[in-house]
Amino acid sequence: MTEATKRSATISVDGKTVDLPIYDGTVGPSVIDVRKLYAETGHFTYDPGFTSTASCDSIITYIDGDKGELLYRGYPIDQLADDSHYLEVCYLLLYGELPSAAQLEDFEFRVTNHTMLHEQMTNFYRGFRRDAHPMAIMCGVVGALSAFYHDSTDITDLEQREIASVRMVAKMPTIAAWAYKYSIGQPFVYPRNDLDYAANFMHMCFSTPCEKYEVDPIMARAMDRIMTLHADHEQNASTSTVRLAGSSNANPFACIAAGVACLWGPAHGGANEACLAMLKEIGTVDRIPEFIERAKDKDDPFRLMGFGHRVYKNYDPRAKVMQETAKEVLELVGVTNSPILQVAQELERISLEDQYFIDRKLYPNVDFYSGIVLSAMGFPTSMFTAIFAMSRTVGWIAQWKEMVEDPQQRIGRPRQLYSGAGSRDYIDLNKR
Ligand code: SDX
Repeated sequence: MTEATKRSATISVDGKTVDLPIYDGTVGPSVIDVRKLYAETGHFTYDPGFTSTASCDSIITYIDGDKGELLYRGYPIDQLADDSHYLEVCYLLLYGELPSAAQLEDFEFRVTNHTMLHEQMTNFYRGFRRDAHPMAIMCGVVGALSAFYHDSTDITDLEQREIASVRMVAKMPTIAAWAYKYSIGQPFVYPRNDLDYAANFMHMCFSTPCEKYEVDPIMARAMDRIMTLHADHEQNASTSTVRLAGSSNANPFACIAAGVACLWGPAHGGANEACLAMLKEIGTVDRIPEFIERAKDKDDPFRLMGFGHRVYKNYDPRAKVMQETAKEVLELVGVTNSPILQVAQELERISLEDQYFIDRKLYPNVDFYSGIVLSAMGFPTSMFTAIFAMSRTVGWIAQWKEMVEDPQQRIGRPRQLYSGAGSRDYIDLNKR
């Protein structure tokens, strides 16, 4: 835990003064430790949505929302996206440092040799309707892992935590790919140990038993980069869900399943699917003003999907890399003047000049361009969030491990401001 500074915050409540210690991080906002506030004042803090609340002391990922900066263990996301690759980023997030060649080789070997699922797990897929959303399948199958891998569910055992971490990173591409295959009625394709992580995922999605399928290396590189961009993101809603589930000492597979469920929401990881649907609904550049006005209309629930962010009040650095990747993949598939990309780029241009968006510091986020890239790769929109969940699993696991190993960790149990009825006596039915 970061040591308290000599500074403190003084709060006076009903004539009682309390000094609350302040802690400084390496970078970013300092924190006021309010843990003794209730005991000393009988008052809770009140922060729905946690806009001003730090839930933990973490050394994994840092976001500077004003600068539009994202660091994984101190390394800028754009450098990692350009110079690293996803499994190396997984190692960095899980263990805190870039691996040596030997460490990386060992980690890749361990992940590669855990990519298969217990064969009986295929039965879970067959219990779903064919048109089940892949995220519904992911929620179910990820949670079911704890029914098959009992030897890595004891969170007090370091070795089991390690095995569970590697299993989650290794098996999510298989789970996601098989959710896709099941939805299109094609046979499951097993992982191949001769392919790298991203190429293996794409091979499991797009190959069939009928003919040899070669993954385009540029496409695989783009997929790998997308995974890196989504790997972790501080204490976002799904990561906080994983931490809260983990604080009850639930097994890691159950915690990750909780994260998958939370990510599904269109305000969070489901925004990439919703964004592409929105861009298709807009259809042409001339309809953009109509949608901009709807996004600004408080009486209209419509929001520009892929825009805005709780933390970024500047451009999401991932969105910039994603936009470049979109152009690269569209060129690869021979789409030069993609109407969808034109609508997205014009929508971005107009929004960034509109006072409503400027005043609220609303910029494109990671989900704004990701759907365009994934669609160009051949994925249906229903798979976009499943790919986000697959990519984010390493971040969830790294944060979960940090929480489990934090000596200050206690079960998460927020309180409330109660505005309901005071105590009152029961009224018999015949007297109501
Ligand atoms: C992700 O947290 C993370 O790190 C998440 C994530 C990750 O990697 O884990 O980055 C991934 O979830 C990205 C966000 C994807 N979601 C979307 O793109 C959905 C559309 N965006 C919004 O729903 C919204 O911007 C949120 C949910 C992302 C953020 O919501 P906040 O921080 O609670 O902001 P808010 O709702 O309080 O909005 C502040 C103002 C409001 O207007 P006023 O009431 O002040 O007049 O901005 C407006 C909002 O109406 N606003 C938007 C808008 N987003 C915010 N108006 C139009 N379109 C939008 N997209």
